[in-house]
Amino acid sequence: MKKPLIIANWKLNGNQYFVNIFLEKLCYKLKKKKYNISIAPSSIYLNKAIQKTKNSCIKICAQNVDINKFGAFTGDISAEMLKNMGVKYVLIGHSERRIYHKETNKEILKKFEIIKRNNLIPILCIGETLKEKINKKTKDICLNQINLIIKNLGIKAFKNSIIAYEPIWAIGSKIPIKIQEIQKVHNFIRSKIKLYNKKISKNIIIQYGGSVNHKNAKQILKQPDINGILIGNASLNFNNFIKIIKIIYNI
Ligand code: PGA
Repeated sequence: MKKPLIIANWKLNGNQYFVNIFLEKLCYKLKKKKYNISIAPSSIYLNKAIQKTKNSCIKICAQNVDINKFGAFTGDISAEMLKNMGVKYVLIGHSERRIYHKETNKEILKKFEIIKRNNLIPILCIGETLKEKINKKTKDICLNQINLIIKNLGIKAFKNSIIAYEPIWAIGSKIPIKIQEIQKVHNFIRSKIKLYNKKISKNIIIQYGGSVNHKNAKQILKQPDINGILIGNASLNFNNFIKIIKIIYNI
């Protein structure tokens, strides 16, 4: 069993001081450790985060990438730039980008493709709204979102890629999550991938994200089809974040 992948998605939070202190303390706590930990800071702190975590097990994740290689696209960042900088993972399809930036499936597909072409690891976020959940559409939504990749790029595109199941209703929410239900969705996603390729379905990391904290993290990661967690809010407080790491890695 691989070590679970823990990713902190800092979204639009933190400042220079926060990034410095947080990463200094984290590197100190994880000295000589070989855990699977990643931090996704705001893009202007990516370089700083990479420098700060250079000699540690912490890998850096970008929260977004542009679909273009280069050119007149003011404000955008290319996959090549991220790769050159030393980024390892890139989040795509996060519901906040689908909702607030009107990101379409077509763009998400292009992002996935360009990330792979640059030998970065895409973390494809998928998941349903509350309304879709109530209407029992969870499986259909997840299937459509993974089929977007499979039908256009082939199942091999999921080799060395990550899927993050992030039900939109669970993100930053007070609605209690039912861990057995989440496991069932993860199992469903894996079983669909298995129809195409057994090895990829066995090896692919399927992470869970949505109100993960130090109280539920261990139970979530005990589930057979949940291989990692993507943490928003609870990753912004150093003590809470380290608590989660300690619980999971038994330190
Ligand atoms: P949350 O965010 O942990 O604050 O619910 C998770 C995410 O959006 O990745």
